[in-house]
Amino acid sequence: MAEREVTISIIKADVGSFVGHVQAHPDMLQAVKARLHQAKEQGLLIDFYVANVGDDIDLIMTHYQGSNNESIHKLAWDAFMDATAVARELKLYAAGQDLLSDSFSGNMKGLGPGVAELTFVERPSEPIVIFMADKTDPGAWNLPLYKIFADPFNTIGLVIDPKMHDGFTFEVHDLIDHKKIHFTLPQDLYDMLVFIGSPSRYCIKHIYANRNGEMAAATSTDRLNIMAGRYIGKDDPVCIVRCQSGLPAVGEVLEAFAEPHLVAGWMRGSHYGPLLPVAEKDSRPTRFDGPARVVALGFQLCHGRLIGPQDFFADVAFDRAREKALELADYLRRLGPFEPHRLSLDQLEYTTLPLVAEKLKDRFEDLK
Ligand code: F6R
Ligand code: MG
Ligand code: MG
Repeated sequence: MAEREVTISIIKADVGSFVGHVQAHPDMLQAVKARLHQAKEQGLLIDFYVANVGDDIDLIMTHYQGSNNESIHKLAWDAFMDATAVARELKLYAAGQDLLSDSFSGNMKGLGPGVAELTFVERPSEPIVIFMADKTDPGAWNLPLYKIFADPFNTIGLVIDPKMHDGFTFEVHDLIDHKKIHFTLPQDLYDMLVFIGSPSRYCIKHIYANRNGEMAAATSTDRLNIMAGRYIGKDDPVCIVRCQSGLPAVGEVLEAFAEPHLVAGWMRGSHYGPLLPVAEKDSRPTRFDGPARVVALGFQLCHGRLIGPQDFFADVAFDRAREKALELADYLRRLGPFEPHRLSLDQLEYTTLPLVAEKLKDRFEDLK
């Protein structure tokens, strides 16, 4: 008999927070936990963990229903509706923000919440790391995923582990034209970098091991602002990475965040700033609504049970990354409304450009 596949689903949304866009309220977390607990009792879920990163609620769920399953997505939708009701009752800020529809229809696609899912046969030991970010967009994963799965200076296993030496295949999505392409590394490396170096448009969605085709990583690539056709908040992406035994070691996966990189987001989703690696308890984006945070929670799967979490970035080994990120934040903030701190005009999510351009249109003269 074929072994049973387990699915890990992370479904996340911002459905209100306090104070301003800083943190989901504990009563909201209580509400979603109650809903998921009930689903576990009824046997729909094997296990769950509710994480809170900034103003986002991240539902980490394991089950046997497969990816993109209606019952699981509906459960997450109902949980977010419950949290929205709490947010409305407490008059929290932006209650219901990411729920773009009044009703659920089939799966989360286009409805607002972000989704990353992996379905696989659990190995004899299955370590996974879940990354969750606030105040940035899904392109934030491009650089670290490239380092983890393609850069021998980060991941020595690519060079000296015979089980990793065949490299990995990256599935990259074009979020503007809604297309996807697979790059097989190392041979397609230079071609891939042409695209993923522009993370506002091209995002890594899945990564597979060339050795056996196993899926090693998945991200959420939903772009709320494009879906809604107007600004309603950054997507605040999540990412799942399986580790060890022919996949990158946990330490190789975390190493990619030791050098903070610049990501789009921060205040009004319209600035570049450093991605600050923090413990879950430190994930409240305060200064200039940021800087963008990333939390890394580790779990061992045990027949679908989530053994953990291990809050990796709570470790002192990331103190220097934090110091450097905060220095970068100081430097960039001094640029104020100027690029490259502020995003370019075509990337801005809040813009007064059409209004100001309309007001001044008669004052523009042709250059002779
Ligand atoms: C960024 C974010 C915040 C808000 C900002 C203004 O993703 O959520 O920086 O954009 O606080 O919020 P509003 O327009 O709701 O006053
Ligand atoms: Mg918010
Ligand atoms: Mg958020």
